[in-house]
Amino acid sequence: MAKRKDQHSEESVVSAALKKSKRQQSDNDIPSAQQLVVDLNALDAETFYSRYILSTSLSYTPQAPCDTQSYHLIFKESTDLDPSELDACFALIEATSRADYEPSSFGWYPNRKRAEMMEDDMRYLLVRRRDATPTIEKHGKTRIDTSIEGFLSFQICHDSVPLVPVLYIYEVHLAESLRGLGMGAHLMQLAEDIAAKIKVEKVMLTVFVSNSKALGFYRSRGYAVDACSPEDRKTRNKIVKTDHFIMSRAVKRQAGEINNSGASEWTLEV
Ligand SMILES: CC(C)(COP(=O)(O)OP(=O)(O)OC[C@H]1O[C@@H](n2cnc3c(N)ncnc32)[C@H](O)[C@@H]1OP(=O)(O)O)[C@@H](O)C(=O)NCCC(=O)NCCS
Repeated sequence: MAKRKDQHSEESVVSAALKKSKRQQSDNDIPSAQQLVVDLNALDAETFYSRYILSTSLSYTPQAPCDTQSYHLIFKESTDLDPSELDACFALIEATSRADYEPSSFGWYPNRKRAEMMEDDMRYLLVRRRDATPTIEKHGKTRIDTSIEGFLSFQICHDSVPLVPVLYIYEVHLAESLRGLGMGAHLMQLAEDIAAKIKVEKVMLTVFVSNSKALGFYRSRGYAVDACSPEDRKTRNKIVKTDHFIMSRAVKRQAGEINNSGASEWTLEV
């Protein structure tokens, strides 16, 4: 699930200040960790892919005997998503998480969610069955690409306490038929590998307390509740329990960029 908007406030201030300072100052005046986020977000999808994503990791065949299909992952920026792909991702979030959003402090606001999904710095890993071509189906007012069976979206930003550069996983959702086959772990590993390559400090995410399956999944991957996660609130009469955790895992940095110059297509439709 996505992070709260009030988490953005401090980060937005830093980001705006950095963009301004980039115009006004020489590079030597800007703290390198903060400049990292600005520079990474300025990269176009092709450059980001060629530097930080191993092309072979975009192909995945589940090991479980019940599913012999293989899948390919497609790397895109929000601005490059087809409307039918965006609608497919939105439909997955609605199917898997609307019931958690509705009673929570976030509430369920479709337009707000779509706007967040289209934020400029949002990047996507879309999951498509290898033998499937884009299949557009009409669902009421929307046209959904039903060949998208899952996705992970992330942003590179500043977060946590103290403010550090992080890779923030906004969403990871799979169609029911694709769960429990290792695809979630594969997507997380890919995001964690990118985080190591770009040299941010942590991978972060937000999860509803009510989503015990996802909580178990993240804990099994080494994520723990972050120092900036909200705590239960004590009012005069009662304790208001937090309905979400912010979790994080420290990144083991890897040296060097990837050279994907031999890869056939940067869009990763392998
Ligand atoms: C959460 C989700 C992405 C996980 O992906 P997945 O493909 O089903 O999980 P995987 O098959 O990759 O599981 C990987 C590992 O995590 C472990 N794991 C998964 N769920 C677990 C749980 N509840 N408790 C403990 N470990 C768990 C698995 O046992 C597996 O370990 P193994 O490789 O040693 O067997 C997926 O189930 C999903 O899309 N759920 C619905 C949407 C959702 O809730 N998203 C999260 C929003 S915050």
